[in-house]
Amino acid sequence: MVNINEKILVLDFGGQYNQLIARRVRDHNVYAEIKQYTVDIEEIKKENYKGIIFTGGPNSVYDMSSPHYSKEILDLGIPVLGICYGCQLITYMCDGKVENAEKSEYGKIKINVKKPESKLFKDVPTENIVWMSHTDYISEAPKGFEVTAFSDDCPCAAMENVEKNIYAVQFHPEVTHSQYGKTILKNFLYDVCRCTGEWQMDSFIEDTVKSLREIIGDKKVVLGLSGGVDSSVAAALLSKAVGNQLTCVFVDQGLMRKNEGDFVEETFTKLFDMKFVRVNCGEEFISKLKGIVDPEQKRKIIGSEFYKVFWAKIKEEAEGGFFAQGTIYPDCIESGKGNADTIKTHHNKVKMPDDIKFDGVIEPLNELFKDEVRVVGEKLGIPKELVWRQPFPGPGLGVRIIGEITEEKIKVLQEADFVFRDEIKKSGISGDLSQFFCVLPNVRTVGVMGDHRTYDHLIAIRAVTTDDFMTADFARIPYDILARVSNRIVNEVQHVNRVVYDITSKPPGTIEWE
Ligand code: XMP
Repeated sequence: MVNINEKILVLDFGGQYNQLIARRVRDHNVYAEIKQYTVDIEEIKKENYKGIIFTGGPNSVYDMSSPHYSKEILDLGIPVLGICYGCQLITYMCDGKVENAEKSEYGKIKINVKKPESKLFKDVPTENIVWMSHTDYISEAPKGFEVTAFSDDCPCAAMENVEKNIYAVQFHPEVTHSQYGKTILKNFLYDVCRCTGEWQMDSFIEDTVKSLREIIGDKKVVLGLSGGVDSSVAAALLSKAVGNQLTCVFVDQGLMRKNEGDFVEETFTKLFDMKFVRVNCGEEFISKLKGIVDPEQKRKIIGSEFYKVFWAKIKEEAEGGFFAQGTIYPDCIESGKGNADTIKTHHNKVKMPDDIKFDGVIEPLNELFKDEVRVVGEKLGIPKELVWRQPFPGPGLGVRIIGEITEEKIKVLQEADFVFRDEIKKSGISGDLSQFFCVLPNVRTVGVMGDHRTYDHLIAIRAVTTDDFMTADFARIPYDILARVSNRIVNEVQHVNRVVYDITSKPPGTIEWE
């Protein structure tokens, strides 16, 4: 949507750090986009890239099935940086020699820079620590390339062909364990590719608002607001662009955290210019979920009911205008990896029903990563509480109540969760936790209160730390905080007489209980 003059292509060869590379490039105020290694070279030629980065990948260049690319890419006159597998691929493409080492080089490794005057190693000490993760290694750099760094076990930790502007490193500069990784990437972007660093969030907002105004004109635009970060930021951006031509539809299915629906409504009606439509349908949802205990069936019912209500309202509000959604960049990247087993069904991009006709779909954030979205959100004046909100699953508390969902259980869980969040906030450790919430396992236990025997709900506390939500560890919350949480929950929340802490990592557990 925005006109970006200065772009870097991250060519994905299946490495686990492809998104991280793009993020790191953007940290230097240069826009980076990821394309799979299957992209046609003609598409690359059209884009006017300032530089290309070959990512790492799990394969060996000599495997018949390993990802390769046409050698022509090295002759386009565009600077190239190969990382790990990308470095080996360049060697292979240029007739150097890659061999299998007896011993893998893994972890923090010291390298020696042989050519300190290399553009890539400007401001980098001759001895420094990098992150390595490879078994194959370059035993002979290709003709025309000079080895610029080495380690004890790796004769070619970096190489370059200055004339052709091709650089390659065996290590991972994008990983924070590489001491000077940031500097090395910056050197590639600014000294080799000659970027100027025009990708900044202030200019992103200005440019996007301008182009949204041009696209929307005097028409209407409707957006589904979930109260999550992405749709909230998209709403604020659209509001800034077209004010009350924007209608936000907010479906409250009764499965949100305590007071959350009211908070979202208040934020958007008070702070932003727009038409805000709230649909309260908690009762209908609970009746549809009566008797349902299977997690996947619950998800399906909540999902399909949600979209039924959602599209009916959207249709009523803006058929014929534009439809907007808060899709972000990671939702759009085609992952290079194979089909993993479906553990749980989550949805990112909304599928449009066939019977609704819009003038077009607008996704103002589809070039941004999550933390860039948050920066935009803060700049647009969305409260910090919303911008830095922890992830909340689409089916809401529906997947945090084990077994059948009832109004009473929702209430108990909302109250307990409210206390837990309040205590964590007060203790000042929110920033250390990636996600924290309460679960109602649908178990009743015997307790004693005063002189009375009780037989009431058990509440489980879940708190995790994670970088990517694919793996996670249980958070080491100090005992005294846990004690306060437990005390308050059993005292303040009716029908709870016991609290337990979930100390399972992911895998084998998942973050949510269902
Ligand atoms: P799990 O439980 O799979 O969760 O370890 C990983 C992350 O995904 C969130 N999650 C969901 N998000 N719909 C969503 O939109 C879902 O059905 C769903 N299930 C889990 C979870 O909160 C965590 O952040």
